[in-house]
Order: sequence, then structure tokens, then C-alpha cells
Amino acid sequence: MKEQGQRIVALTAYDYLFAKILEEAGVDIVLIGDSLGQVVLGYESTIPVTLDEMIHHASAVRRGAPDTFLVMDMPFLTYQVSSEEALRNAGRAMKESGVEAVKVEGGDKETCRTVSRLVNAGIPVMGHLGLTPQSVHTLGGYRVQGQGKDAAGRILMEAVALQEAGCFAVVLELIPADLAREVTGSLTIPTIGIGAGPDCDGQVLVLYDALGLNPGFQPRFLKRFAELGESARTGVDAYIREVRDGHFPDSEHSFDSQE
Ligand code: KIV
Repeated sequence: MKEQGQRIVALTAYDYLFAKILEEAGVDIVLIGDSLGQVVLGYESTIPVTLDEMIHHASAVRRGAPDTFLVMDMPFLTYQVSSEEALRNAGRAMKESGVEAVKVEGGDKETCRTVSRLVNAGIPVMGHLGLTPQSVHTLGGYRVQGQGKDAAGRILMEAVALQEAGCFAVVLELIPADLAREVTGSLTIPTIGIGAGPDCDGQVLVLYDALGLNPGFQPRFLKRFAELGESARTGVDAYIREVRDGHFPDSEHSFDSQE
């Protein structure tokens, strides 16, 4: 798609029904992101997410989207300890959930060695640079990365290193648009941006954020394509009202003994 100049459309999903909607709509890549931690499990960050939780949700997404290319995030400390452990854990992800690929964060030498190990074993790997949420405490918060010559140069260098290590694509999160353009132009593999401007080869958003399920969350990079949060609230309010005042269920939603 990169070679043909076609933009790649990616979204996250965590469950069967949304996965089904994304497949029917024709999304190119569904990412079972470890954003699962915040948007589904109510954790403060992605750090507490476990491999079992990821596999549980990735399996549900697989059932909803049997014909879509699925990528599963490797959670914090499932791939950093050693490349052997990474291989075993990524192997579990693929065997138990049926995803086609995994995603890891970072582009330092250790991570690149691990990427090579996984790729050599037949596991496709997506990289992730810029704001890497599993390192939020090292980065000092959720803030734009790659600002300034040194930081930008490091991201560019790591992107090239991930490509050389065998990654098939790399997510660029929260970096300046001009840096994302430069990285995209320097790689043969596609870049998938989130908060990285319009010149990446594709875009990804956290599904629940894109659909407005979390109305209080409005970072600058996020465009809401629906207002499901408001719509859900309106529906729940109406249900409460109708149950309390006896309007639901009415005869249309009840059975009688002749039927
Ligand atoms: O966890 C996630 O959802 C992600 C995307 C935001 C890229 O990593």
C-alpha cells in the first residue's frame, strides 16, 4: 500500500462486536492495543496490563474479525527482560489468540535485537516510536516527543534500526508532523501515525476515543468521528426513566399467552 500511495487505515479494538464492525467497514489493520488498560479495564496506564488480558481480548477480536490483519500489543515487561522470554510470549500471543503480528515499543539496540529474534522465528513485528506509553514515567508524562534536533535525530535513527531489524511497519506517536514526514520518507516500511500529522503512510486511533465514548478526553490530535458516549448516556437515561415510570416494557415488548 505504501508503494502504491494508498493510505493505511488502522483502529484499535478490544471486543467481538466492535471487531465485527471494523471488519465489515473494511479497516486495514486492527490493533489490540494495550490501551485496553485505560479504555476497557480502567487502569491508570498501560503498565499493569498482562499478557493473559491481552490474549483474552485479542481472541475476542479474532472471533469478530476473522479476515482482518490483527496486531496485538506486547504488554510491559513481556518482551524487555530477554529475547527468549519475548519469543515465548509473542509465540503465546499468536498461538492462543490467532493474531498475525505483535507490536513492541522502543527502538534501542536491545529492542532491535529482540525484534530480529522474533522476526527470524516467523513472528511479524510492528515497531512503536515517539511517545511510547509503557515508558510514560521515564518520558515524564504524555507529551510530544522528538522536539529538538537530538531527539528528532534519535527517533529517525531508531526508525531505520527497527526497519533493519525486520519490522514490517512502525507506529509514530505524538511527534511533530515534519519529523514524521522525514521518517516516513526515509523508510521503505510504512509508518502509522497517531498525533504525528498527515504525512504518515497510515493513521491509527484508539477506537473508543475516535467514537467519542470518553467525552472528557480531548487531546489536540484526536478527532471524534461519532459521539457514542453522549448517545449511550441518552439511551441509559431514557431506559431509567421508562422503567421507573412504567412505560417499559409496554405491550409491544411483552408476550401474551396466545402467541
Ligand atoms: O495501545 C494502543 O492503543 C496503541 C495505539 C495508540 C498505537 O499503541
